Amino acid sequence: VGDRFEAGERVLLIDSRGRNYLITLSAGAAFHFHRGIVDHDHLIGAFDGARVTSTQGESLIALKPTLSEFVLKMPRGAQVVYPKDLAAILVQADIFPGARVIEAGAGSGALTIALLRAVGPDGYLTTYEVREDFAATARDNIEAFLGKVENLELKVADIYDGISEGEVDRVVLDLPEPWRAVAPAAEALREGGALAAYMPTVVQVQALAAALEDDIRWALVKTTETLVRSWHVRGRSVRPDHRMVAHTGFITTARRVAAD
Ligand SMILES: C[S@@+](CC[C@H](N)C(=O)[O-])C[C@H]1O[C@@H](n2cnc3c(N)ncnc32)[C@H](O)[C@@H]1O
Repeated sequence: VGDRFEAGERVLLIDSRGRNYLITLSAGAAFHFHRGIVDHDHLIGAFDGARVTSTQGESLIALKPTLSEFVLKMPRGAQVVYPKDLAAILVQADIFPGARVIEAGAGSGALTIALLRAVGPDGYLTTYEVREDFAATARDNIEAFLGKVENLELKVADIYDGISEGEVDRVVLDLPEPWRAVAPAAEALREGGALAAYMPTVVQVQALAAALEDDIRWALVKTTETLVRSWHVRGRSVRPDHRMVAHTGFITTARRVAAD
């Protein structure tokens, strides 16, 4: 027996074909799909993991979405960081419970949600987002998944103009010109701190790595990409799936060290 669903909560409904629908529970409302209708009132008060039957007899599984399921379904302004890359960023940037972290930009808030979970209630996240509309989308998505958060400051500001926080543990970047945030990040990070940047193109990686290598305050500059291949496992048919998400982005990391 797990948690019960409440009105206002997001619930993922999965049909017998594996199709996913993310709904927001509302008393008196109904979910319509090609195999009938499910009243929200049948779900409100039911347990996470419950099975429900539509008016046409289709059985659905009702689950609280995981972080990965939520970020792939949530409303997007900017392109989100894919779950495989969220996982890699958290470990490669060494995000730990209690860490003080700077992020830019917030975009749709996928990486923000992952960072908030990883720093936990004792950590603190400050996120720079230059576009007010994206900041609003990010805030809605963050609150839809995590509820009200006390340890986040979402600033509408340009990180290239500087970071006003100091002595932070980690800086995480997902924006078009991360090399322009290298000097602000070096100022904000404590010695021993770490930087991670996520970029879709090699041209960005090259420019960022050059900026980091040129500045004595950075060491251990590394770049990786993460390929995840899912498998089809049915009886004797056990093989990789034919399709995969091939390219998303590269992750470059570096450590902030003493200048002398
Ligand atoms: C690819 S999106 C980030 C997506 C986000 N990581 C997510 O998972 O949803 C890049 C974001 O950086 C923001 N941005 C671009 N330049 C910026 C700057 N100089 N300072 C702060 N934010 C910036 C853009 O407005 C955009 O929202």
